[in-house]
Amino acid sequence: MSHLALVTGGSAGIGRAICLALAAPERTVLVASRRLAACEAVAEQIRSVGGRAAALELDVTRADSIAAAAGRVAELEDIGGPLTELVNNAGAVDVHGAFEQPAGLAGDVWKRQFDVNFHGPRRLIEAFIGPMRSRGIGRIVNVASAAGLRAFPSIAAYVAAKHAMVGYTRAAAMELSGSGVTMAAVCPYYVDSPMIDRGAAELAADRGWSRERALAEFAGRNPGGRLLSMDEVAAAVVDLLKSGCNGRVLVLDGGPPREASEEPEP
Ligand SMILES: NC(=O)c1ccc[n+]([C@@H]2O[C@H](COP(=O)([O-])OP(=O)(O)OC[C@H]3O[C@@H](n4cnc5c(N)ncnc54)[C@H](OP(=O)(O)O)[C@@H]3O)[C@@H](O)[C@H]2O)c1
Repeated sequence: MSHLALVTGGSAGIGRAICLALAAPERTVLVASRRLAACEAVAEQIRSVGGRAAALELDVTRADSIAAAAGRVAELEDIGGPLTELVNNAGAVDVHGAFEQPAGLAGDVWKRQFDVNFHGPRRLIEAFIGPMRSRGIGRIVNVASAAGLRAFPSIAAYVAAKHAMVGYTRAAAMELSGSGVTMAAVCPYYVDSPMIDRGAAELAADRGWSRERALAEFAGRNPGGRLLSMDEVAAAVVDLLKSGCNGRVLVLDGGPPREASEEPEP
C-alpha cells in the first residue's frame, strides 16, 4: 500500500541514513529538517535510485513550523497515501555540566535541549497520532540515546531530555496497546556521525588532544569498544518500523542489539 514516512533531521547524519534505508517504491519518504535545500538533496538521492521522496521544512522546536508541516503532510497524503511511519530523529547536544550555562549560548540550555530532544518530538507525535489511531495503523520510532538510560559526562540537559524521551515512549506505548499504532525507541551509544565529529573537535580542543584521540575516547566509552555506524542505527530503526514491536527500547552499544532493562510493571 502506498504510504508516507516522515523522518525528522533527515538532512544529515543518522537521519539521512534512515531516509536512504527507507527508499522503496511504495513509500514516499518525507525528509524533514530546518534546511530545506539539504533535505531536497537527500530526497533527490532517494529518487535517483527509484524511490519516492519529498523535502519538508521543519523546525521541531517551533509549534508554528510543526503545524505548517502537518498541513503539508495532509496535502501529500492525497498523492502518496496516509502517513503511517514517523521517525523522530532530529536532536542536538549542548556540552555543559549540570550547574553551568555554556559560555556564549543565548537562552536557557535546559529549555533548548528539552525543546529539540523531547518537546519537539512529543508535539510532532501529537500532531499525527489522531489520524493514525483512527485508521488503526501507525509505527513511531524515537531516536533517543544511551544517554536516555544512563549518564554521560558534561551533557546534563541532553541526558535529562533523552531520559524524558525514553520514559515518554514507554508510557505512550502502554496507552497505545491494542490500537494498531506502536511506539518504540532506539538508544545508540556513540555513532560515527557529524554530531560526534563536532564533539570530538570540542573535546580535542579542550584537552589538547588530536581529533583521533578524542574519537578513540568516545569509541572506548561504547561497551562494544567501537563507534557505531550511521547505517547500523538506520537498519535498527527500519527493523523497529517493520516489526512494530510496541514499547520496545533497543540499545545499540557496538555489540549485538539488546533490550533496555526496565522495572517490572506493578
Ligand atoms: N551521534 C551520536 O553519537 C548519537 C548517539 C545517540 C543518539 N543520537 C541521536 O541521534 C539523532 C541524530 O543525531 P546525529 O548524530 O545524526 O546528529 P547530526 O549529525 O548533528 O544531525 C542532526 C540532524 O537533526 C536536525 N535538526 C537539528 N535541530 C533541528 C530542529 N530544531 N528541527 C529539525 N531538525 C533539526 C539537523 O538538520 P538541520 O540542521 O537541517 O535542521 C540534522 O539533520 C539525534 O537525536 C541524536 O541525539 C546520536
